[in-house]
Amino acid sequence: MRSKRSRLDQFIAQKLQISKKAVRQLLIDNRIELDDKICKEVDKQINEFSRIRLDETWLQHRSSQYYMLNKPVGVVSATIDDIHPTALSLLKDVDPELMHIAGRLDLNSTGLLLITNDSQWSQALMAPETKVDKQYLVTLANPIDESYIKAFADGMYFGYEDITTKPAKFELVSKFQARVTLQEGKYHQIKRMFGRFRNPVVALHRESIGGIILDNNLDAGEYRHLTEWEVHTMRKLQAYPFMGT
Ligand code: URA
Repeated sequence: MRSKRSRLDQFIAQKLQISKKAVRQLLIDNRIELDDKICKEVDKQINEFSRIRLDETWLQHRSSQYYMLNKPVGVVSATIDDIHPTALSLLKDVDPELMHIAGRLDLNSTGLLLITNDSQWSQALMAPETKVDKQYLVTLANPIDESYIKAFADGMYFGYEDITTKPAKFELVSKFQARVTLQEGKYHQIKRMFGRFRNPVVALHRESIGGIILDNNLDAGEYRHLTEWEVHTMRKLQAYPFMGT
């Protein structure tokens, strides 16, 4: 999802169906407020959450929204799907058309899913250069041992896409369970990595993304707003400038 940036004068001209010359006059006359301050700059960059007012009338006043969902098995990480319920349809009182998912999970995977309408936030979060840890609890069909640790740390080559996976952290939790931490998210990555050991994944549960940990008060299918701290911890991590929420 691309972030929606544009110029202030273009936005006002389109919104009010007036010429750019007329917009300039409004700016000169101190009639336009951008994020609570009079603005005179025609070429000022704005985004979908900039608060823009003409005199006492709001031209744009939309707030950013951030949720965590405990995704159940059988729910698809997509906006629309003909067969399965979508993660977005689980959020009541939220317009699914305005929201998107930051970092998908497979149909049968469970756990932390981040949902937002702030495309700049999610883009930065998912960009490979941001190097956000994503932690998964994985249950396997066959016993695992310490030989997996090096294989995950060394990376694995997948010829189909011609990629080598980045170093991943592998912790043995029990004979059949491991905690795996990735900083990327290739297609079915964890299942394919265990596939190298001919060890099928029985369950895959995402526990955290960066500093955001799945709230253990949320049962499968339940969701809540992210706290200010959770939203901002990601911004700090991304060295991403604060935008009004
Ligand atoms: N790796 C997978 O194979 N599936 C997921 O859902 C997430 C990571």
